[in-house]
Amino acid sequence: MTRKIEGRLVIATHNPGKLWELRQLLAPHGIDAISAGELGVAEPAETEGSFAGNALLKARASCAVTGLPAFADDSGLCVDALEGAPGVYSARWGGEDRDFSAAIRRVERELRERGAQPPFAAHFICALAIVWPDGHVEEFEGRVDGVLVFPPRGEKGFGYDPIFLPDGLDRTFGEMMSAEKHALPGDGSRALSHRARAFQALALACLA
Ligand code: IMP
Repeated sequence: MTRKIEGRLVIATHNPGKLWELRQLLAPHGIDAISAGELGVAEPAETEGSFAGNALLKARASCAVTGLPAFADDSGLCVDALEGAPGVYSARWGGEDRDFSAAIRRVERELRERGAQPPFAAHFICALAIVWPDGHVEEFEGRVDGVLVFPPRGEKGFGYDPIFLPDGLDRTFGEMMSAEKHALPGDGSRALSHRARAFQALALACLA
């Protein structure tokens, strides 16, 4: 049986942007979200080979240290012609200083080196995990399919947004306002981004 989230929830992130977004989502449900960073929990190395594995690893680590239910997410871009790369290494392709213009150039270079031809099918995945102190686990995944476009288009968003054109739309994620990309429609229709889709599934199952 799925379990509802109640009371306090540790968010296994040191990223203030992610924490802010999650607080917005959880506050209306009476959930008090505190970050692993605020509690002084160290960030574990993301050593798993899958998004779901890394989300679970991070949630387990925060739950074990704090004794509170803990939430974590992991996400990235998978390119078909690159056998799913950068995948779980999406953040690392940005290098130490998280330079995603360089990461985008690398994606384009690797596609060219392999002789890949457009359309360059790709998808974003977002995996979410919640772990309770008694070992109970809830996991969710969201995915959005699209194609990659070069040169990059748009200045909005982050990461690989300027090269990702979601199926059925004519603007890249880099050309969209964040609210449009991440919105959680209240009317039951499907959200757009992988993250919003994963949260939709979580909200349906775990929020009262
Ligand atoms: P993490 O989930 O914080 O480990 O981040 C994974 C990496 O995937 C980010 O640094 C981005 O490069 C990339 N990524 C994940 N979601 C998105 C998105 O919505 N737009 C663009 N890039 C993304």
